[in-house]
Amino acid sequence: MTSTTFGIDRAALLETAQGMGALPVTVSQLVRLVADDDYEIRDLVGIVSLDQSLMASLLRQANSAASAPVAPVTTIRDAAVRLGVSSLLSMALAASVSDKMNAALPGYAMSEGDLWRESVAASVAADVLRVKASVDVPVEAGTAALLHDLGKVVLSAHLGTQVLEVLGRTAAETDGQKLLEAEGATLGVNHVEVGAMVAEQWQLPATIVEAIRCHHELGTDLSPVSATVSVAHAMVPQVLSPDEPVSPIVPMAHRALVRRLGIDPGTYPAVLATVRARYAELAERYGVD
Ligand SMILES: [Fe+2]
Ligand SMILES: [Fe+2]
Repeated sequence: MTSTTFGIDRAALLETAQGMGALPVTVSQLVRLVADDDYEIRDLVGIVSLDQSLMASLLRQANSAASAPVAPVTTIRDAAVRLGVSSLLSMALAASVSDKMNAALPGYAMSEGDLWRESVAASVAADVLRVKASVDVPVEAGTAALLHDLGKVVLSAHLGTQVLEVLGRTAAETDGQKLLEAEGATLGVNHVEVGAMVAEQWQLPATIVEAIRCHHELGTDLSPVSATVSVAHAMVPQVLSPDEPVSPIVPMAHRALVRRLGIDPGTYPAVLATVRARYAELAERYGVD
């Protein structure tokens, strides 16, 4: 008898993770391209032009009310300028993952749409933090934040009702580190490891894989992308309760990470207010109600 109550079979879990399917080639190429510092915008245009439906959806987003273009945007180059490369990446990815991430996750006490809403909120927070940071945060931070809890989708799809109930009870009562411990104790694996595994399988850049793996960590040795995703993820409850007063302090445990990004924790209320406003503007673009 092992210490895990419902120890799961890693090989079978891997199969479920593979059942998540592949990302469209254009999307993973695009993410990898942009994660490379010296990419050229014409390479980005080249990749997007190979995928008619991606191209159409990016142009539609660039012309949406939230983007409010003065003149219609008709080229991918202009769409990249209008949306910003970070948003363009997240939009490209959203089209591929939003269905999977919209599902209800009973193992995590989450209803339909909850995980997607949290993921979009984290992504918007990461983009704002990236801009406010005085250290260089690579553009893929927003994409990593969008995917940070992907492992929950795989674990939920993989587990039987009995396990989901146990985990659901724990998830409803706990958060963060305790949830990871509960997963580890119950399943022998946790959602950050599984999420990183899927991101690897999707051939996403190592910075994204690592940020998914470390999003519950607080160490100041985290890379800029990982630190950004960890803080963004901690901001989500505050972003999604816009009527609550803006907290004057960063979630306590994350102060050191906020400093690590070169952001003065004293400016946190302003950062949070910006994230809330951006989220309100962008939620519709991501299909969040
Ligand atoms: Fe998580
Ligand atoms: Fe999360």
